[in-house]
Amino acid sequence: MNATTLNPQTPSVLLGTLIQQQVDESINNLLASLPDPGKLSADQRRGIIGRYTAVLEGNFIYWMTGAYLSVRSEEARSIILDNLLEEVRDSHPAMLRRFALAAHAAPTDSDALAVYRDLTNVRLFVGRLSTVRLVITMAFFEGFIQKFMSFLAGLAAAQGSTEMEYTDVHGVCDVAHTQGLFRALDAEIALNSPDSEPNLFEGVQLLRKLIERILFPDMVSNGSHPKA
Ligand SMILES: [Fe+2]
Repeated sequence: MNATTLNPQTPSVLLGTLIQQQVDESINNLLASLPDPGKLSADQRRGIIGRYTAVLEGNFIYWMTGAYLSVRSEEARSIILDNLLEEVRDSHPAMLRRFALAAHAAPTDSDALAVYRDLTNVRLFVGRLSTVRLVITMAFFEGFIQKFMSFLAGLAAAQGSTEMEYTDVHGVCDVAHTQGLFRALDAEIALNSPDSEPNLFEGVQLLRKLIERILFPDMVSNGSHPKA
């Protein structure tokens, strides 16, 4: 079932469950499209880590702050604030930079250019502060990151790195973060009727395109790409 076409009268708890199912499905589809690590060249491995770092290092906390600014319920505010506190207190951007440097994959100008257009689209979406859609997007992001960590760690190991704090931490803490964001989503749906927000998955679609660009920088605009 497509949650975007659900009847507005759908009970909020049921709507939250259906949205979570669709987010999980989208994450699993994206994970299924990951390239075969054994077939990637050193340059391709470096590029994926570099573009991932170019996107996450300076944007994750900012986008989560956007979610914080958009929510209205005390429960959602408290959940997202805890998430932000952990990001800032433990300096996850510094952790990610160490991870990239150790894998000899610090982002380059070319990495930034490759993701520029899709990154801009997500930034503009976040700026609209569309509460329910933004919380869904961040739940998708956290859920994807958590399941992506073993793949990313494998790329870094193949680059000769043993610096795995970033992937170790995010393979664990993002489980709780994802569950927390779905609780925040339920709290926001209870307050705001999401039927006033067309295409509940717009942010997920834009973010998924950006992640695909990280993985497949030469992807053409219709989204097709050669699987490495
Ligand atoms: Fe983080």
